[in-house]
Amino acid sequence: MSKEVIVVRGNSTLTGEVRIAGAKNSALKLMAATLLGQGPSTLHNVPVISDIEIMSEVLTTLGASVERDGHDLFIDTAAVDRCVTPYELVSKMRASISVLGPLIGRFGAARVAMPGGCQIGARKIDMHLVGLEMLGVKFDVDHGVLIASTPNGLNGAHVVLEFPSVGATENMLMAAVAAKGHTVIENAAREPEIVDLCDMLNSMGCKISGAGASSIEIEGVELDDLHPCEHTTVGDRIEAGTFLAGGALTGGPLTVVGIDPSFLKMSLLKFEAMGCKIEAQADRITISRDHPLSPTDIQTLPHPGFPTDLQAQFMLLAALADGISVITENVFENRFMFAAELMRMGADITLEEHHAIIRGVKRLQGAPVSSTDLRAGAALVLAGIVAEGYTTVYEIGHIDRGYEDYVGKLSSLGADLERRSL
Ligand code: EPZ
Repeated sequence: MSKEVIVVRGNSTLTGEVRIAGAKNSALKLMAATLLGQGPSTLHNVPVISDIEIMSEVLTTLGASVERDGHDLFIDTAAVDRCVTPYELVSKMRASISVLGPLIGRFGAARVAMPGGCQIGARKIDMHLVGLEMLGVKFDVDHGVLIASTPNGLNGAHVVLEFPSVGATENMLMAAVAAKGHTVIENAAREPEIVDLCDMLNSMGCKISGAGASSIEIEGVELDDLHPCEHTTVGDRIEAGTFLAGGALTGGPLTVVGIDPSFLKMSLLKFEAMGCKIEAQADRITISRDHPLSPTDIQTLPHPGFPTDLQAQFMLLAALADGISVITENVFENRFMFAAELMRMGADITLEEHHAIIRGVKRLQGAPVSSTDLRAGAALVLAGIVAEGYTTVYEIGHIDRGYEDYVGKLSSLGADLERRSL
């Protein structure tokens, strides 16, 4: 239970410019990838969020040293001599499973606690395991701990992923770079964070081609040919999309700076379909709206499809649109809990399995609500900004996992909100 809440006064607007932090869903994996460098790497544009603290703890538990200076991380993995990641850390953050691939790549072995599920779904890792087994990894499970070994070494293979899983693609990549021979990952995830990881791995001496396409090729290299690096994390497209949704809600104009607009193509098309004006430049996007929000239909899909991590934010827009919208969640099996909280604020939503039918209403009413995951939490704060009266958002620990200074950034855009101790 978070010890703080966010109290939001309604009827505010969000206008101005906000700088976007580095991508959480890239930085966490870049940190894991430094295990392959066996020396001091530097990561720039790393967001100041609690998930980064947990990954730092995972790396120091393995024997690395991690120093932070603002948005820069200095990670030295030369002294890493253990390949055990305990349950206490994995249970705090599922993304700890991202050390599995690099540990196998470096040591040919790993002992990582099996990650649990979370509010949005079972979050299985069967595709990670099937793919890694094709590279010669043998897995045993002992009392909840995944034990990986490579009795016959790590050998390149042609792997076809059942689903373009982001995590499975990343773990495959970070093991295959040290395998003997050639690996192809077919049906690979195409998210911008995958491209960022491959750019960093190549700067460490890896030989990866095709990142961003659905077929990635890796030429295995000797571990001793890999070296530490200095890398800058790409901007966080989901944080950017969240603030743009705030601008769409209140009319803006609102500008997000430090993001490549090409990361958000489908989301920008949906903002325009809902009646917003979008102006995109090299590293920034401005959104404004001077007509009522129009309804739209959304299917969440792997990139370059519509991102599931912006589904809650767009459900909020649809809740205030002039008509009926249908949102279909195809990526996670249980990612509509946000709808129940929004209905407490007066939204009119019907859930039919993985479809949500949203009938727009004129106003939302402030109410006490609870974050169910970090994206739903961020969207609930936005809902409070446009609602009638006050909204108190509970379980804000979810928000702190993935949004750097969310309250401060929203306040700088004109919102009236504050963190309060419980
Ligand atoms: C990453 O999760 C992100 N997390 C998620 O962001 C994001 O929603 C997701 O990718 C999809 O884009 C991080 O990068 C830390 P997947 P990941 O493997 O890698 C199923 C956020 O809000 N699946 O692409 O876990 C899985 O259960 C978070 O920042 C299997 O069944 O996503 C899910 O239904 C939330 N077996 C679907 O595939 C597997 O072996 C997509 O999972 C792997 C995945």
